[in-house]
Amino acid sequence: MGLWAKFKNTTLYKSIYRNEYPDTPRNQVLVILNSLVLHLHPVKVPRRAVRVSYTWGLGGLSLLMFLILTVTGVWLMFYYVPAVPDAYLSMRALETDVIFGQFTRNLHRWAAHGMVLAVWLHMVRVFYTGAYKPPRDFNWVIGVILFTVTVLLSFTGYLLPWDQLAYWAIAVGSEMAGSTPVIGREARMALLGGHTIGQATLVRWYTLHVLLLPLACIALMAMHFWRVRKDGGISTPIPYEEDEAEARAEG
Ligand code: HEM
Repeated sequence: MGLWAKFKNTTLYKSIYRNEYPDTPRNQVLVILNSLVLHLHPVKVPRRAVRVSYTWGLGGLSLLMFLILTVTGVWLMFYYVPAVPDAYLSMRALETDVIFGQFTRNLHRWAAHGMVLAVWLHMVRVFYTGAYKPPRDFNWVIGVILFTVTVLLSFTGYLLPWDQLAYWAIAVGSEMAGSTPVIGREARMALLGGHTIGQATLVRWYTLHVLLLPLACIALMAMHFWRVRKDGGISTPIPYEEDEAEARAEG
C-alpha cells in the first residue's frame, strides 16, 4: 500500500476529509455540502441562470469590490490617525513615507467608486430583467438598503482625509440633513456631534466608516446571498425546457 493510501486511512485524514475522493456524483455533492467555504455555493446551478450576458457578474463584482475595500481599508487603518490635527498629515505621510502607500490609498479610492458603480449597475440589471418580482421582492428590499449603505460608506470615507473637499462636503451634507422636516435639528446634531464641524464629527464618521457600516454591509450581504438561494437561485432568463433542449443540442 502506498504512503498516500496509508495516510488516507489514518484518523487524522478522516477527521479533516470525511468523504471519499469526489469521483462519483454522490461524493461530489458530499464534498461541497461538508465544506464550510464550498457549501455557501449551491451544489448545482442551472446553466441558464449563470450566463454572463444575463447577470454580467455584477453582484459578484460588487462583492469583489467590497473585499478589496476591506483588505486595503484595514491596511490604511495602520497609518491613518482620526484626530483633527493629524488626519490630513497622516494621509500625506502615507503617500510619501510608506512603501506602496499611495498605491494602496488609490486602490481603496478606486474600489470605492467601482463598488458604487457595480452595485448601481447590478440594481439596473435586476430591474430590467424583472428579477425584483415575487418571490424575489424581499431581496430587492434588502438590495435597496445595501445600496444606501454602500453610498453612506462612500460618503463617510470621503470625509476622513480632512482636506478642504472633505470639510465642505460635510458642511453641505449636514446642512442637507438639517433641512429634514421635523427632526432636522436633531439629525444635524447627530451627524456633527455638536453645533460645528470638529473632532466629535471626525470620530463619529470614522466609527461609522470603519465599523458600523461595514458590519451592516456584511450582515445584509449574508442575508442577500441566503435569500438568492432560498428564492430558488438566480432568476431564469429563458424557460427551463428551452434551455434543456439547447443543452442537449450542444451535447
Ligand atoms: C453590496 C451590494 C450587493 C451585492 C454584493 C449583491 C450581490 C448579489 C449576487 C452575487 C447576486 C447573484 C446574481 C448576480 O450576480 O446578479 C445577487 C442577486 C440579486 N440582487 Fe444583489 N447585490 C447587491 C446589491 C443589490 C441591490 C442594490 C439590489 C436592488 C435594489 C439587489 C437585488 C438583487 C436581487 C433581486 C437579486 C436576485 C436576482 C435574480 O435572481 O436574477 N442587490 N446580488
